[in-house]
This record gives sequence, structure tokens and C-alpha cells, in this order.
Amino acid sequence: MKTFLMCDPRYFEVSYVINPWMAGNQGLENKELAAKQWKNLHDILSSKASIKLIEPVAGLPDMVFTANGGFVCRDHEVIVSSFRYPERQGESSYFSQFFENSGYRIRRLNSDIKFEGAGDALYDSNGRVWIGYGHRSDAQALDEIATILQAQVNGLTLVAPRWYHLDTAFCPLVNGYVLAYEQAFTSQSVNIIKNKFNDRVIWVSDEDANNFACNAVNIGSDIILNKASDELKVALSKHNFSIIEVDVSEFMKAGGACKCLTLEL
Ligand code: ARG
Repeated sequence: MKTFLMCDPRYFEVSYVINPWMAGNQGLENKELAAKQWKNLHDILSSKASIKLIEPVAGLPDMVFTANGGFVCRDHEVIVSSFRYPERQGESSYFSQFFENSGYRIRRLNSDIKFEGAGDALYDSNGRVWIGYGHRSDAQALDEIATILQAQVNGLTLVAPRWYHLDTAFCPLVNGYVLAYEQAFTSQSVNIIKNKFNDRVIWVSDEDANNFACNAVNIGSDIILNKASDELKVALSKHNFSIIEVDVSEFMKAGGACKCLTLEL
């Protein structure tokens, strides 16, 4: 059974702008609705996986996006994040504390390298590691992570500001599939995705990308995401996936959706 780390949205709000989704949304989140949406996601996930919680901290409104707390790179081993923007840097020590208390071996990248955890680092179902860089994480993170893992890692260059973390535009699924949004990447990175996933890439439309369809949690054949078009539902059902839509509109005002609200442990 998978285990996910979540953080309740007690202190969640859009109080600064560090990605394009947040622009114009400062103070516009509905806190009551956010709490309901988060609980709904939590309850659905807890029927399919086990959930651990990290205590939220006042003044760290984005801590609810636990995906950025670190990258669990091996069993009980984690590469902790070093956030690009000062607004989120305070989260690192709380996530590190959580991992230490939970018996994880903590790995850190060279102190001048930015790396935003599982927002930018994902395993596919063949055990290959994918790292997104260009907005939040630095390209230099690749070599360091490859050294820690003693394995090759695949780098993907993110180019469009709205797709600032890899998990906003790329979601490996079971059985060698991946959901991806072409416009988020350089043409070179698009080719890498095509070459490595062959006919198992499911490209999403602009509409689906903007509804954060790639920011999905995959558990077996279930794909939990904010919203998918009928077209995408049909495409996924052809590959035996079923979609569970969980509205996370309030968190999208901060630039995150279902996957960002979880960290696979
Ligand atoms: N407001 C947060 C930020 O800009 C959202 C993080 C979303 N997380 C993710 N894994 N995509 O950092």
C-alpha cells in the first residue's frame, strides 16, 4: 500500500505571488471551501492508501503542498528541498524534522543548488527518475541526484511559466504510461519523452493542462485529479484507467492541485 504525506490547510492562503497562478488571487481563497476540498481529497486517498500528516505552521501558507517537502528517493531516504523563493524557505526545517523523526536518512544537495522535491522529481513505473528544471530546481540538481542514486536520471527542461514544476505537466502512471503536456517542455525534452515512453504517452490538451489534469495521483488503475475533459476520460479508459475527479479549485489559486497536496513516502 502506498503512503502519502499531507498537511492540513489551516494556514493556507494566497498571500504572495511566486507563480503565475497566484497573480491576482491574493486573499481570494475561500478558506472554508479549501478545508472541505482538502478533506475530500484526504478521505478519498485514505480509502486507497495510508496517509501521514505533518503539522502545519502559521506563516507558511504553501506548506500544504507537501510534494515540495522533499524527494523520497529510496526506502526511508529523502533528498530534502532547498526552495528557490524566500517565501517557502522556512518550510525546509519542518519537513526535515518530520523526516528525521520518522527515521529517514536525510540527503542534501550542495547548499547553492535549488531543488523543490517531488514537485520536480518523479519516478516512473520502470524505476527511472525524471527531474524537471528551469523554473524552480536547478539543472545542477541532476548530477547530484544521479550521484546519490548511483543511477542515471532523465532531465526535462521546463519552459512555460505556468508549468513551473515538473508535476504540473508530467505524471508517470503504472504500466509504463505517462500523462504529459507538450507545451511545458522544450522540443528536445518532448523528444526524450516520446523516445522513452513510445506509444505510452498520453498528451493532454490545453484545456486539461489548465485544469491541472497532469497534477494527478495514480494508485493502481485509479487516477485522482482535479478535472478531466470527456476526451481525456475516454483516452484513459482505453488504457484501463479510471478517473476520480476531486475539485481543488481553492488550491489552484496558489498554483497547485491534487498531486502537489501529497508527497509519496
Ligand atoms: N504556491 C506554491 C508554489 O508556487 C504551489 C506549489 C505547487 N506544488 C507543486 N508540487 N507543483 O511553490
